[in-house]
Amino acid sequence: MDHYKKPLLKRIIEFTKENSISFHVPGHKNGAVFLEAAKPYFESILPIDVTELTGLDDLHAPQEAIKEAQDLAADYFGAEHTFFLVGGSTAGNLAMILSVCNPGDTIIVQRNSHKSIMNGLELSGAKPIFISPEFDETVHRYTAPSYETVEQAIVSHPNAKALVLTYPDYFGKTYDIRRTIDLAHQYQIPVLVDEAHGVHFSIGEPFPKSAIYLGADIVVQSAHKMAPAMTMASLLHVNSKLISKDDVAHYLQILQSSSPSYPLMASLDVARSYLATLSKEELDAILKSVMSFRSVLEQGEHWQVLPTDDPLKITLQVNNRLSGFEVADFFEAHHVYPELATDKQVLFIHGLKVFKETEQIGNIVKSFKEEYKYLLNHATIEVSNLFKEPLSQLAISYHDMFKLPRKRVQLEEAVGYVAAEAVIPYPPGIPVMLKGERVTEEQIRLIQHLIKQGATIQHQDIKQGIQVFVGV
Ligand SMILES: Cc1ncc(COP(=O)(O)O)c(C=O)c1O
Repeated sequence: MDHYKKPLLKRIIEFTKENSISFHVPGHKNGAVFLEAAKPYFESILPIDVTELTGLDDLHAPQEAIKEAQDLAADYFGAEHTFFLVGGSTAGNLAMILSVCNPGDTIIVQRNSHKSIMNGLELSGAKPIFISPEFDETVHRYTAPSYETVEQAIVSHPNAKALVLTYPDYFGKTYDIRRTIDLAHQYQIPVLVDEAHGVHFSIGEPFPKSAIYLGADIVVQSAHKMAPAMTMASLLHVNSKLISKDDVAHYLQILQSSSPSYPLMASLDVARSYLATLSKEELDAILKSVMSFRSVLEQGEHWQVLPTDDPLKITLQVNNRLSGFEVADFFEAHHVYPELATDKQVLFIHGLKVFKETEQIGNIVKSFKEEYKYLLNHATIEVSNLFKEPLSQLAISYHDMFKLPRKRVQLEEAVGYVAAEAVIPYPPGIPVMLKGERVTEEQIRLIQHLIKQGATIQHQDIKQGIQVFVGV
């Protein structure tokens, strides 16, 4: 197929040239009605912010330009079918889970999944069997579950409706997922992969292979994270004999807007074309930029630059005298914004840009050295014992959670109760504590430590304690 083509963008541009008179939504009437002061920032995009008019197709029943654009994406990414998502990978993760399981069904799920996976489980009413990730000493964090843990889960739950994995992790770490996928397929269990951070793997060497290529049944990718697409624009690919794409389509039309954004969808068309037509010279320039950014960061004395599988992700492991949050704050004070910080790590997403600001960043690294010359050791927290058992389950079913009363308790009193809400440091959006889990001392210690360090926690008011169920 011709990947220089951008059929959806082309169709929208043709439409704008018709200078049509709008007696339809959206209310900005092709940009004519808009707050004057805000116009300069929006006016170039408003004319392409169209809707499902004759000839502009419909995301929920695509026949024309949207179908053509999705077909091109499926061809490039190697899927049988690709759905455009306007609600982020969040919408894709919810839909893929709902399309495979009903209330009470067993589903095997990586415990350190993004909250959208956990929310999908709650909406489906399924019974999750959580598989714990391994603590990887080379990158000092929990990454993926071992093959043996997945095997143990599958052998004890051979009727599971699906296996849900995250690949790569937020920091670009991959593993031999093909072996795990093959194992699940021996039991006719479909594998659903949250590949939110891997859309660019389609470029090929030096990037790892995508789970689409490695045999997964459904793969969800946030095109907006690592490719040049607009925020929320994402993709769901289906490649399966075990899952019906019509079921996925059904849930997507429930979950996604009936007025999906055309700029977002067109940006998916553009991002696919960008990735598919990236030249070797362009890629070499990006990789050269990555190398110089890495080497500038390697000059820092207070951290180590970790090895990575995805060259576009650069992670600092900070030493005991600092926290990741402090290092990130320092960069931000100099107007350089990393993607995220954790207790001990800072993640920079280099992305597909060729940076010209390497010298500027080098100066920040130098001034960091000066400013942080004399430091005392910091309190650190041991997290490698967070997941005690390879397999775990919720203490009560989602169904029972509806019926139980709740109360709020202080964090230090919560141990032993069943949590009635999740506690989610954000980013990365992976719950430390899940709704329905029996609260452990390790979880509380970690949450308290993160609060002390200034981590952002997605919670109404964690300092006032957490909601727990009463009577279980
Ligand atoms: C692993 C993972 N999955 C899913 C998501 C949700 O993606 P989106 O922001 O596209 O909804 C994220 C967001 O950070 C993520 O890190």
